[in-house]
Amino acid sequence: MTLQVKSLAEYKDAYQRSVNDPEGFWAEQAETFHWQKKWDKTLDWNFKDPDVKWFVGGKLNITENCLDRHLADRGDQVAILFEPNDPSQANISYTYKELHAAVCKTANALKASGIQKGDRVCFYMPMVPELAIAVLACARVGAIHSVVFAGFSAQALADRIKDSTCKMVICSDYNNRGAKNIPVKKVVDDALAMDCDSIKTVLVHRNTGGEVEMEAGRDKWWHEEVDAQSADCPAEAMDSEDMLFILYTSGSTGKPKGVVHTCGGYMVYTCFSFRNVFQYQDGDVYWCTADIGWITGHSYIVYGPLLAGATTVMFEGVPTYPDAGRFWEVCDKLKVNQFYTAPTAIRALMAKGDEFVDKYDLSTLKVIGSVGEPINEEAWHWYDEKVGRGHAPIVDTWWQTETGGIMITPLPGITDTKPCFASYPMPGIQPILVDSQGALVEGNDVEGLLCVKFPWPSMLRTTYGDHERCRITYFSSFENLYFTGDGARRDADGRYRIIGRVDDVINVSGHRMGTAEVENAIDEHPNVVESAVVGYPHDIKGQGIYAYVIIGDPVPDEDAFRKEILAVVTKEIGPIAKPDKIQIVSGLPKTRSGKIMRRILRKVASSDTSNLGDISTLLNPEVVEEVINGALV
Ligand code: WT7
Repeated sequence: MTLQVKSLAEYKDAYQRSVNDPEGFWAEQAETFHWQKKWDKTLDWNFKDPDVKWFVGGKLNITENCLDRHLADRGDQVAILFEPNDPSQANISYTYKELHAAVCKTANALKASGIQKGDRVCFYMPMVPELAIAVLACARVGAIHSVVFAGFSAQALADRIKDSTCKMVICSDYNNRGAKNIPVKKVVDDALAMDCDSIKTVLVHRNTGGEVEMEAGRDKWWHEEVDAQSADCPAEAMDSEDMLFILYTSGSTGKPKGVVHTCGGYMVYTCFSFRNVFQYQDGDVYWCTADIGWITGHSYIVYGPLLAGATTVMFEGVPTYPDAGRFWEVCDKLKVNQFYTAPTAIRALMAKGDEFVDKYDLSTLKVIGSVGEPINEEAWHWYDEKVGRGHAPIVDTWWQTETGGIMITPLPGITDTKPCFASYPMPGIQPILVDSQGALVEGNDVEGLLCVKFPWPSMLRTTYGDHERCRITYFSSFENLYFTGDGARRDADGRYRIIGRVDDVINVSGHRMGTAEVENAIDEHPNVVESAVVGYPHDIKGQGIYAYVIIGDPVPDEDAFRKEILAVVTKEIGPIAKPDKIQIVSGLPKTRSGKIMRRILRKVASSDTSNLGDISTLLNPEVVEEVINGALV
């Protein structure tokens, strides 16, 4: 197993070694895995192209490390512990032996459907064990998985399928989420009706058993394809730098991009970070509440925990069903030791009242984590007191889809915690701050743009089908640095506090969205001439979505018009992108070169118009007053 630091001295020592001799440090970690062929060179890199390669020439299969490697020692230990949406239903568990068999059978079914190494397979599924099984099956045969969060619309799904020309979609019939029943297969059918010619097969998992239409020749039932397969499936030999998966995420411009992670480095870093951040010990039960449709689920429900031989909980439901005590009821019932969730969930549960958490025994908890957005002080204290209860420190983990794994975080019981601070970098991670000109911001008690100056094993390698976009987005702002898009503070003791995005990316309930993406969706409404979207502080969601809209013809019924906008956005992206506020305006404040002054719109949306700065140079200063007067508070 990879190194697990146990004390502050060990952390400091590991950190020093990882900086002084990164290749030696990571080679040592990589040696703890099963390689079909050892690598020739530990690292080859430049941030200019960019071109980063770890464990060059090595051959491996990540699933041998997630599964086969554990069979001798922990074959009968539970690998995946499934908690269904309906609390009255029994848990389902897969031991490592059972998971291995299920993955091999599914892998054989993929092969029987013509899936080969390098093919892209799209997933559109709820949080059921079959999702993890099929993801691993993909990796077993060397196919590249692209998991799309099942809350995205048919249009968004189609865009992603087309961008990476997937050959197969794996989905469910329906999804039970809280009290809702969602027609998953129907969304897939709608997506495939939008020119997704690359799709040859749809593999449908029967989840709820509801009626679905099956298209002859294209659609196949999981149970018919998988159950009869052999449980023996040799793992494909993958190069360290072969693609493991694509995961779409939003940026400040254009359509979401497919972040690409590769096999070797991702494996090494997710296991290493999992073991250290959560201080997982044999026998512990670990639960991350994320969805596998996001990077958190990839790295810290599936790969990290399974690589480390952990018992990982998969939860199908939502935090507020049947009531706001569900998380804590499950922690109590399953004797969860490490719990990992998002600030938006914490804030939502905090608002429902303490009685939902107070009544549960949370004494098994040893570590509680937070991820996805800045956690505000009030939520941090509530989480600390009500859930951590003095025996489970908070790890406020900062990272990104692009980083593959946790980058900056406290280590529980090892480094101290401070509200709202992600604290110190993981071993192997070299963060720095720069100013807008790219000059290094040195010393402590300073603020700047957060960059990373040296490669780490699980960093993104490219954006699918468009390497130039990867270069421009992450490596062109500052020479020889990976730019995160976040601003950060470094306190007097060198701890980092993440302030938030400095680009046009907003974070709504932990969901990352590009303002341009939401604008493009709104603009699809036939009566919208132009729109501008900004984030504003929202008590539960962290950020809410505020849209300014210029209309063509007058609208007789504004509320009805707003509903139409919401429907358009839901259709184009999904319900998560629905604006919270829509203000109809006659113009948008613009510079003389025609650029929308988002700074002003952000201030108005945040009800902070005290200091708008100089607006006299605007093309249309008069609209500012109109925008302020019409602001929705
Ligand atoms: C953005 C990345 C990493 C998994 C989930 C989100 C924000 C993430 C924190 C944190 C403050 C955070 C950043 C980052 N973020 N974690 N602990 N404190 N901000 O992944 O969807 O790629 O979003 O989320 O702004 O850039 P993602």
